[in-house]
Amino acid sequence: MTPLVETAIAGFFDAHWDRHYAAAKLRTDPLYTALARDLRGSTLPLLDVGCGIGLSAFFLRARGMEFPIHGLDYDPRKIRSATRAVERAGLPGVTFAPHDARGGLPQHRGNVCILDILQFFTPAEQETLLRSAAARVPPGGVLLVRSGIRDDSWRFKTTVAGDLLAKATRWMKAPPTHYPTRADFERILTEFGDLEITPLWGKTPFNNHWIRIRKN
Ligand SMILES: C[S@@+](CC[C@H](N)C(=O)[O-])C[C@H]1O[C@@H](n2cnc3c(N)ncnc32)[C@H](O)[C@@H]1O
Repeated sequence: MTPLVETAIAGFFDAHWDRHYAAAKLRTDPLYTALARDLRGSTLPLLDVGCGIGLSAFFLRARGMEFPIHGLDYDPRKIRSATRAVERAGLPGVTFAPHDARGGLPQHRGNVCILDILQFFTPAEQETLLRSAAARVPPGGVLLVRSGIRDDSWRFKTTVAGDLLAKATRWMKAPPTHYPTRADFERILTEFGDLEITPLWGKTPFNNHWIRIRKN
């Protein structure tokens, strides 16, 4: 994505902090490129669980992907910001709603992404969310998750510090609760399809991994 596109996307947001965050995040985080890569060619609708201010939707539309996108997040401020930005940009087929994913997921049949939110869930809530998301993906679809992985690395320690900072600055409503291990993903998700777990930290210091289940 060129700096021009990142700046244009950021310009659709009202709040100064959202504009700054959107431009910096889109420029530095390899997350959205990985998402676009794995959704390319799919026409299935996408459910974006914990969508924040909706950056995935903007990025995917900027990459020419036209499938319907529905984002949900339990922070009403972010949902309002995302909704206003999408209206201003005039993006068709993109909707957002306030929703706490700990209470279950809405009806959906299509691809699902869960990006950087599992750390706010207890182990039992993580398992319920992952199973319920995987169950909504039809054959040919994907469940895409990014998560920090709990291990002995310095990257993991930096990940925890970063999430605590996000809470201290009130960017996140909650502090991190629990980080899953690689073995947790293997235990929970292997039965649903072909599982791949690969590092996805780019130039960031975090222990982020990309977890992909492709349904056969
Ligand atoms: C680090 S942000 C990631 C935002 C977005 N997925 C992205 O990658 O651009 C984590 C998001 O998860 C949301 N979140 C945390 N717990 C949630 C829950 N129980 N239900 C819905 N959203 C939740 C937060 O409000 C926040 O917007």
